[in-house]
Amino acid sequence: MKKKKEDYTHLQADQPIGIFDSGVGGLTVAREIKRMLPQEDLIYFGDTKHLPYGDKSREAIVGYSTKITDFLLENNCKAIVVACNSATANALNEVLETVDAKVPVIDVINPVAEKVAFEIHNNVGVIATKATVNSGLYKKSIRKHNKFIKVDELATPLLVPAIEEGFKNHPITNAIIYNYLSNSKLKNIETLILGCTHYPLLMDEIRQFYGNRVRVIDSPSIVATQLKHILEKHHLLHVNNPHPEYDFYVSDLTKNFEKISKKIFGKSIRLELKVL
Ligand code: DGL
Repeated sequence: MKKKKEDYTHLQADQPIGIFDSGVGGLTVAREIKRMLPQEDLIYFGDTKHLPYGDKSREAIVGYSTKITDFLLENNCKAIVVACNSATANALNEVLETVDAKVPVIDVINPVAEKVAFEIHNNVGVIATKATVNSGLYKKSIRKHNKFIKVDELATPLLVPAIEEGFKNHPITNAIIYNYLSNSKLKNIETLILGCTHYPLLMDEIRQFYGNRVRVIDSPSIVATQLKHILEKHHLLHVNNPHPEYDFYVSDLTKNFEKISKKIFGKSIRLELKVL
């Protein structure tokens, strides 16, 4: 695909930022965006009706992702954050085609891979959904910049359902984590990328497993920093907006989504059911 020249001259700083994921995972990215850019209005779409994306075909993920992108564009977003690794790994090109170079698109794999490739020089492990691991995108993107890094990827498909069920600090989740992280593929890693935006919700449990032996990469903050740079570069940072609006849409209302979104964004968020 030939890269079209971006044109952001029609965009205004006071337009919202659009963020999407299959469920609560993208909230870890939204939380960091809110922390770093506290004056921005946000529109979040959680495709809870179709999760987990990680077990779906590429075609299905492309279909969901492009529909959500259209929805965010219709809602006047000035940037789109694909806060889902499975969507990034399988549908980023199609999202870019849909956007047609009219608004910046920030994904959750490329900025992380770049940072790891340039700053870390040891064995890297990636845990992610099947859809992300099967794409091999982490390995490709890291090794494009630094071919000396060893990258081992492991699919850990039971984590998303456990998180969406709200099983935090739960023996089932701890057993799943122990089982996956003990896998021989991850035996010699010194750095771990959480290649699914849901996984930072289990950061304490993952850190507990490794102690200080393994550095766990803080992907949401890398992604939020990238978004900030892009908005700054194009003079699109919203300032003088002390009471930003947070609009949340889900394709299926779940108790867990409501609980986690309210915990991060406060009780005043607007949460609406929206089937696309
Ligand atoms: N949080 C998403 C990701 O980063 C999707 C997980 C899923 O729905 O399987 O891959």
